[in-house]
Amino acid sequence: MAFSTPELRTARLRLRPFADADAAPLYALHSSAHVLRYWDSPPWTETTRAQRFIATCRTIEEEGTGARMAVDRVRDGAFIGWCGLSNWNPDFRSASLGYVFDATAWGQGYATETAHAVLRWAFDTLDLNRVQAETDTRNVASAALGSAAPTEATVDRSGVVEGPAEAHRTAPRTPQSHRGRRAGRLRLR
Ligand SMILES: CC(C)(COP(=O)(O)OP(=O)(O)OC[C@H]1O[C@@H](n2cnc3c(N)ncnc32)[C@H](O)[C@@H]1OP(=O)(O)O)[C@@H](O)C(=O)NCCC(=O)NCCS
Repeated sequence: MAFSTPELRTARLRLRPFADADAAPLYALHSSAHVLRYWDSPPWTETTRAQRFIATCRTIEEEGTGARMAVDRVRDGAFIGWCGLSNWNPDFRSASLGYVFDATAWGQGYATETAHAVLRWAFDTLDLNRVQAETDTRNVASAALGSAAPTEATVDRSGVVEGPAEAHRTAPRTPQSHRGRRAGRLRLR
């Protein structure tokens, strides 16, 4: 199933597809050793990495495997970070969530607000039964974000959201018209 990277609004934020003009602030974000101290790859040292990241966003969209969104603060239009869904697997009905925000924007609930919007969109659009996120165990803000993120998960009536992993893998697909709504949780591993 092909889908476009969405544009989403929250009370304080606008989530949108990346544009070429985001390269400079994106590089500033990803070249910060402080911001990336728990990231699984080193900070960028070449500005071309930002252009490659934006090109990859478009590839992900063309392949239909996910969606990465730039996050702007509505109040001043500042780019404050990004959030993305990747590794969408329609057979396993799973996907992964990633996010990076500028340190000046931390601790104000922006990541929570963003994750809620992305998860709501993802569960409504992609027939998911789970979204996973990986985090360094020392990254307490990321762990708190993941374990506290409620979703409006759309799940099979007979399926389970909070059971063991095997249950997610074997939960049967249910036609759109037969879906029930239940609260789910972002699951961290
Ligand atoms: C992880 C990150 C996205 C959190 O962003 P944020 O906008 O500060 O998050 P929020 O303000 O929405 O807070 C999310 C949760 O973390 C908690 N939190 C925020 N900063 C914290 C800190 N310094 N110490 C402990 N908990 C913290 C909040 O209290 C909240 O939990 P709660 O809902 O139980 O109160 C941000 O720190 C970041 O971008 N880090 C660098 C990139 C990164 O590590 N990405 C994740 C890789 S897995």
